[in-house]
Amino acid sequence: MSTFSLKMDIANNHHFTGQQSPLFSVEEAQKAHAFHAKIAGYQATPLQSLDHLAAHFGISKILVKDESYRFDLNAFKMLGGAYAVARLLCEEYQLDINEFNFETLKKDIKQPMTFATATDGNHGRGIAWAANQLGQHAVVYMPKGAAAERVENIRALGAECIVTDLNYDDAVRLAIKTAAENGWKVVQDTAWEDYEQIPTWIMQGYTTLGVEAVEQMQAMNVKPTHLFLQAGVGAMAGGVLGYFTNVYGANNLHSAILEPELADCIYRSGISADGHMVNVDGDMATIMVGLACGEPNPLGWPVLRDCATQFISCQDSVAALGMRVLANPLKNDPKVISGESGAVGVGLLAAIYHHPQRAELMAKLGLNKDSVVLVINTEGDTDPVHYQEVLWEGKHPTTA
Ligand SMILES: Cc1ncc(COP(=O)(O)O)c(C=O)c1O
Repeated sequence: MSTFSLKMDIANNHHFTGQQSPLFSVEEAQKAHAFHAKIAGYQATPLQSLDHLAAHFGISKILVKDESYRFDLNAFKMLGGAYAVARLLCEEYQLDINEFNFETLKKDIKQPMTFATATDGNHGRGIAWAANQLGQHAVVYMPKGAAAERVENIRALGAECIVTDLNYDDAVRLAIKTAAENGWKVVQDTAWEDYEQIPTWIMQGYTTLGVEAVEQMQAMNVKPTHLFLQAGVGAMAGGVLGYFTNVYGANNLHSAILEPELADCIYRSGISADGHMVNVDGDMATIMVGLACGEPNPLGWPVLRDCATQFISCQDSVAALGMRVLANPLKNDPKVISGESGAVGVGLLAAIYHHPQRAELMAKLGLNKDSVVLVINTEGDTDPVHYQEVLWEGKHPTTA
């Protein structure tokens, strides 16, 4: 076995209070889950247990919630977009979300609607999917350099997809401006002044994956000791951690928020003296494209600030290592196809295992033979060309 030191900056959260958020209560999460469960083709995504890998790394369990199986969308993101669109329509047509069903509503929509959003890929695909289900229109803005496959997947759902020459955060501003000029509804996964309801629904929609994972762990008779959540703006991490702390209590869970070092706005907010949100600017040219967001979601940040145990900023090779490890299972462990933004959690465990200071890093993360680590594979191979370059051609290697 070789040792190598990949860059992982680990900061303890000095702002931790353990304060639970009512926005992500068990009741709210169950409402979102009940909505998703009514969509045709719904199935809980698998919770894979990588027992041989866990034994290899010296821990008890590695559980991977595999969102590459989420409908046929290869990522978790539709959970948020579809739920927000549904809640929006319920408000518009005075319907009860508990009664709501895409099929029946489709017939009731009197005025054609256009939903607008900006995306690194997965969120836009979710919005395009929801609009398509409802026979409505979506306009999706993407940052510069968007992968052809991601653009095609959005267009295949009938949406207009515009690749800009902007970074993610500026593409969001363009979506807002154009929507205002055209009377479109913005369905964005981050919040700003006077725009909080839709992103709250989006975050609540993400809790469905948490509800499923908790049920699946109960069926396996295990409780997580660790939860690793990757963050772009931190909406998914905020929603899922918010729900988990309502279920288990923040003090009973070692949670780590993982980001690429080129877009580590949550990490930087975490190490700020007073816990204020810190933005990262520029191109944010990371392979973890779904995490290439420089401005924290103001609704997600308070949950992460109050309840996360640690913030971790990682170099790209950590994610690439995770992609390779998940694609090459030990013995009869299941194979997991994990894209760049999905693989960073397992990548972190593997990078610690190979690190010359393995024992110190394990101790820092509170990892030992009893640890049950839950990670979320938030996407499959959403950029198959790059996926193959990493796996076959060794792009983003572990050694210089
Ligand atoms: C695959 C994937 N994982 C994680 C995230 C992070 O989600 P958030 O921006 O809510 O932090 C995204 C965001 O687009 C994503 O596409």
